[in-house]
Amino acid sequence: MLELVEKLYENHDLTDGELKQLILTDDKAAEELLIKRADETRQKYYGKKVFLRGLIEISSFCKNNCLYCGIRHDNKNAQRYRLSREEILSCCENGYELGFRTFVMQGGEDAYYNDEFMCGIISEIKNKYPDCAVTLSLGERSGQSYKRMKEAGADRYLLRHETASDELYKKLHPNEMSLENRKKCLFNLKKLHYQVGAGFMVGAPFQTVENIVEDLRFLQDLQPQMIGIGPFIPHHDTPFKGEKQGTLELTLRLLGIIRLMFPKVLLPATTALGTISPIGRELGLKTGCNVIMPNLSPVKVRKKYDLYDNKICTGEEAAECRGCLQRRVKSVGYEIVSERGDFINA
Ligand code: 5AD
Ligand code: FES
Repeated sequence: MLELVEKLYENHDLTDGELKQLILTDDKAAEELLIKRADETRQKYYGKKVFLRGLIEISSFCKNNCLYCGIRHDNKNAQRYRLSREEILSCCENGYELGFRTFVMQGGEDAYYNDEFMCGIISEIKNKYPDCAVTLSLGERSGQSYKRMKEAGADRYLLRHETASDELYKKLHPNEMSLENRKKCLFNLKKLHYQVGAGFMVGAPFQTVENIVEDLRFLQDLQPQMIGIGPFIPHHDTPFKGEKQGTLELTLRLLGIIRLMFPKVLLPATTALGTISPIGRELGLKTGCNVIMPNLSPVKVRKKYDLYDNKICTGEEAAECRGCLQRRVKSVGYEIVSERGDFINA
């Protein structure tokens, strides 16, 4: 098994069979070597730097009904809110002060945030903070809409593909949604020169190891600049409420493998990872992650952006995230930097 890790480290690829073996192995020595090689690879390109992305959750309204997600349209118990232009700008102001140089506007698919609204706020943020990157995470929109928002100044777009298997996609989503359109959106975004983030949930219901290999192959095809993965965590008001959550071990294994397959990729230690283990994000950083996405949303709405149960950083302590993270990142030997943290092309 150690040879497989070394082979992946050197060639950035393995056969499907080898990938499956490495994903499933319980060989402790291989696990340790994977962590070591992933960390070396991350440090070769990014040193000890950890980039911050200030997450502004602009809307908990969503027209979709993904079976796993707590803000799905049919969840009558979900608490819905929308942030105003002024509220979003005040999150940015606060974030800039704290050293954030990327702002991520994320929300459910909510027609209220039309192109006119989005282009206005994007250009306003870019004017006020020319040294900052603006990232969008607003789901599937038309090519025209992506184009307008790019022209207004947006730099990056996060849209997890969720799964690259048609069969699994249908089990996780209602009929109105399609993997085909999701992929079309991602390739559109790349064509428009957004820095693109894709990704999937680890341990989603019905997911097999073959599905995970398909995800890795899709990512090789798309070549995104960012890859977001985190464990699936059941939400009590969704059809998947009784399903098992994804494990820490498998998520870390995949983070290590992804770092070796995509040496320069921007890889967040996600909030979901921090939710299933009190040191999940720290372990992620040690296994190749170089990005953290702290919540910049107003404290009063944080509990309402409720994708999965027990999400961290939603209580009163939330205003302290920056200091808390500083300590956490330092505790594992890395350092938060106040930079945009763009993908390195060189
Ligand atoms: N558990 C973990 N991640 C989830 N997401 C949505 N619902 C859940 C859940 N129950 C992820 C999806 C989405 C991202 C914003 O959050 O992958 O793309
Ligand atoms: Fe949010 Fe620690 S990172 S409270």
